[in-house]
Amino acid sequence: MKLDNKVAIVTGAASGVGKAIAELYAKEGAKVVVADINEGAISAVVDGINAAGGAAIGVVANVMKEEDVQAMVDKAVEAFGGVDILVNNAGIMDNFRLIETVEDDLWERVLAINLTGPMRAIRKSLPFMLTKGEGAIINIASAAGITGGKGGVAYTSSKHGLVGLTKNVGFMYAKSGIRCNAIAPGGVMTNISNTMTNLDMNGMQVFQEAAGTQRREPADPMEIATVALFLASNDSHFVNGTVIAADGGWTAY
Ligand SMILES: NC(=O)c1ccc[n+]([C@@H]2O[C@H](COP(=O)([O-])OP(=O)(O)OC[C@H]3O[C@@H](n4cnc5c(N)ncnc54)[C@H](O)[C@@H]3O)[C@@H](O)[C@H]2O)c1
Repeated sequence: MKLDNKVAIVTGAASGVGKAIAELYAKEGAKVVVADINEGAISAVVDGINAAGGAAIGVVANVMKEEDVQAMVDKAVEAFGGVDILVNNAGIMDNFRLIETVEDDLWERVLAINLTGPMRAIRKSLPFMLTKGEGAIINIASAAGITGGKGGVAYTSSKHGLVGLTKNVGFMYAKSGIRCNAIAPGGVMTNISNTMTNLDMNGMQVFQEAAGTQRREPADPMEIATVALFLASNDSHFVNGTVIAADGGWTAY
């Protein structure tokens, strides 16, 4: 197994991409902390992993809250003795708001969840990785994090920021044995669109035009999880500070 005896925290692990990553990591031998805001859905994922012979615990953690992020990492260390892998996956979209229509509170919420949360989770986990002299951080960015026309302004900015965070941490801690990489998924079949309300129809139209250039049907979440497994395992030992697009060719357009 590729992640034997590793401890992995996955945020937003109760649904979609995060759930697939948590399940695949557990199958590969990792002890997994399933962190999310959705308590009921966390239990279902944790029960499923444990019933299949894996090891998982659930933690209710809102990545917008510093105290929740701290407690999430402390619980991982308490339960499993450390943190080897951190997957910053929790994320929300922004109703395709253009700069003309984006509200301050929407901007701040999107940045808080998609960018500040990952920064805090890395800041808190890093000392445990440094003690061991190794660690893998995987940030789930987006095709909107490497191009300008595949989301609203807040989502696009947050995911570009996440790519910058990835490169900075990857470079600065390379000599300490820490690797930090991002995945930029294209469209994936998950529940993310359920959270969108009050769409900016102009922004939505541009997104739909862009979506038409994705070269494939939306991915199954497991097609992103397999990339996250590669980045967490020794198979990617020399891969650091970079972004892997997993988008069926979308960003090649
Ligand atoms: N689905 C896509 O097409 C797509 C494309 C590119 C990137 N992504 C990225 O993939 C990641 C996962 O999204 P998904 O598509 O699986 O969505 P999803 O909505 O199915 O799952 C997201 C999970 O994150 C949780 N979450 C939301 N806010 C949270 C918070 N403040 N704290 C903790 N957990 C929180 C939700 O409860 C949910 O369980 C996101 O970062 C998203 O931006 C998704």
